[in-house]
Amino acid sequence: MSVAPHLLRPTRFVIDLDAVAENLRSVRRLVGAGRRIFAVVKAGGYGFGTLEMAEVFAVHGADALAFADLGDAIWARRQGVSLPILVFPSALPGAASEVIAHGLIPTLTDLDQARAYADAARGPCEAFVKVDAGLQRLGVAAEQAVEVIEAIAGLSPLRLGGVCTHLHAPPGADPAYVNWQFGRFTSVLEGLAGAGVEVPVRLAASSPLVMQHRHTYLSAVDPGSMLYGVPQSFATPPEVPLRPAFRALKARLISVKEVAPRERFAAEAPFPVQHRCGSASSRWGRPTGSGGSTTVASSCRDGRCPSWPRRRWSTRASTSPPSPTPSSATRSW
Ligand SMILES: Cc1ncc(COP(=O)(O)O)c(C=O)c1O
Repeated sequence: MSVAPHLLRPTRFVIDLDAVAENLRSVRRLVGAGRRIFAVVKAGGYGFGTLEMAEVFAVHGADALAFADLGDAIWARRQGVSLPILVFPSALPGAASEVIAHGLIPTLTDLDQARAYADAARGPCEAFVKVDAGLQRLGVAAEQAVEVIEAIAGLSPLRLGGVCTHLHAPPGADPAYVNWQFGRFTSVLEGLAGAGVEVPVRLAASSPLVMQHRHTYLSAVDPGSMLYGVPQSFATPPEVPLRPAFRALKARLISVKEVAPRERFAAEAPFPVQHRCGSASSRWGRPTGSGGSTTVASSCRDGRCPSWPRRRWSTRASTSPPSPTPSSATRSW
């Protein structure tokens, strides 16, 4: 006997797939037809669903996807995602054979890793190398990058597919700061060109750069948040309109009852009840894998009781299987 999904999980996260497609088209208009778009689907497609987002991006003209987690990337491949997948640095060199077996493109950050991939590869193996131009996190330091990348490019059977960086561009960043980092990256590219190292993909622009620093586009871009219309990333309004992927969170109440003030441990109550009032529960939160606690709203007609619980809830989507429709998808929590 099959049970309708909405009966099993009566809370639905409604995602606007048209909005995501439109945002991707906006990126395409900005960067032009000749540049590659690596659509970032890290963190479960920023919470909107890895597979749903991957499909929209594939259908509407992304050239590749980028994941931050190797496990997610392998899962997506196994689910049938066929676009090229770039995996940002996230795994140990011992995972090289898995990366290769799933046809993923690793992003390398040092020579030892590169050797592990060269050893594991049984045939040509495309790899990117990441340069740290200012974020001080992952990547070969810009000062050593030409030498290290030259050495990596010479490791058969590796094939240098691209050189990338992730610039530190917080909201309101001084353009001079962004340009300083970008200059460090382009110096590396110039050094590689001078050394005769061919770099097919040159990649530096995530959303803040795509939106506000057009000179950073190079041969490819890797936006994430702007594709989902997530506005927090931008200090000033984006130059192109972005539509939010988030359409609605719809929850059917699973329980409605009356609660009364309690005589014992009243101060410890999850939410204060000063007199008899209604308590309604919808099911989303930690028990359903979305990061918070089950949400309880109390309906208090004269407003004397607070309407939300003390514990906070958050909106991280679960990795439950997708159920897309042509223009929207819903995820059950
Ligand atoms: C290496 C890298 N590139 C691109 C992105 C996408 O960034 P954004 O969401 O700001 O476009 C991320 C996200 O954190 C990232 O880690």
